[in-house]
Amino acid sequence: MASETTRQPGVTRRMWRWLWSPTARFGWGVIFVAGGIAGVMLWGGFNWAMQASNSPEFCLSCHEMADNVGEEWMRSTHYNNPSGVRATCADCHVPKDWFPKVVRKIKASRELYGHFTGVIDTPEKFRAHRAEMAERVWAEMTASDSQECRNCHSEHAMNFEEQSARSREKMVPGIEEGKTCIECHKGIAHRLPPRDD
Ligand code: HEC
Ligand code: HEC
Ligand code: HEC
Ligand code: HEC
Repeated sequence: MASETTRQPGVTRRMWRWLWSPTARFGWGVIFVAGGIAGVMLWGGFNWAMQASNSPEFCLSCHEMADNVGEEWMRSTHYNNPSGVRATCADCHVPKDWFPKVVRKIKASRELYGHFTGVIDTPEKFRAHRAEMAERVWAEMTASDSQECRNCHSEHAMNFEEQSARSREKMVPGIEEGKTCIECHKGIAHRLPPRDD
């Protein structure tokens, strides 16, 4: 008991001194500046990684192995169209806003895990797993009220008069009823998964 109380101040004082002059050579000023620079570089690196991991090349580095999705996309209107506006993988699958984007990147840890356990590494496995993956995408796009689509398409900017009669007749009442894009527009960039019903 007695020895504890006598030792305590000594330790505290030593820690205090260490905190204020961590090394003989550098004072806190130098360390704060170095820390600041490292922080900025880490932040930049983080955002760079967020950006780089949004490129179709990055997505296809994994998703091409199981053929399909990339090639299907390249045959779709969203790859090539009269307006020359291309929707990339990330446009439809990664949110634009910073926070939801980070959440999506963290969720991608399932993809990393699936990659190393080989859930979709052959066309056969891919086909067998496809419906489950599509269901997940539909659920996400329903929950987001198809925000991914609305980043480019807006019903307020649609000239329904210029659309085909079928588009107009289905979409005007559908949107009024509060239906969201993905409810009616599945399979706009890929082939639909095989259905058993
Ligand atoms: C490291 C390899 C890898 C990379 C890179 C990758 N994916 Fe995946 N992805 C997978 C695997 C494996 C699955 C299947 C995961 C499962 O179902 O367990 C998957 C599943 C998906 C799904 C199905 C739905 C879901 O949430 O699981 C979508 C959509 C998807 N990836 C899109 C993308 C996009 C877009 C990119 C680029 C931004 C991308 N992936 C990059 C390996 C990868
Ligand atoms: C990056 C912008 C962008 C995103 C994101 C996007 N689209 Fe498109 N979409 C386009 C462009 C550009 C066209 C072609 C317009 C033209 O014909 O010139 C198009 C065409 C279409 C068409 C008509 C042609 C077809 O393939 O049937 C539909 C339907 C459509 N988009 C639905 C959707 C849905 C649903 C989503 C969300 C899952 C979505 N789009 C996401 C830009 C986008
Ligand atoms: C109630 C169902 C329904 C809803 C909801 C709906 N659409 Fe459509 N849309 C259709 C149908 C049906 C067509 C006709 C073409 C087709 O069969 O795919 C169409 C056509 C289109 C076209 C092509 C228009 C043309 O004729 O040039 C685009 C682009 C489009 N939809 C985008 C969207 C977007 C974006 C949303 C969400 C804001 C949306 N749609 C919501 C049913 C719907
Ligand atoms: C215009 C929007 C759009 C673009 C661009 C797009 N996807 Fe998708 N993706 C979807 C939708 C919607 C689904 C849900 C299934 C469906 O309706 O086809 C989906 C489903 C998937 C799935 C699950 C398996 C399946 O086929 O259902 C994977 C994996 C995937 N996308 C990867 C990609 C990759 C990789 C790219 C780029 C090469 C890409 N997507 C481009 C809209 C898009």
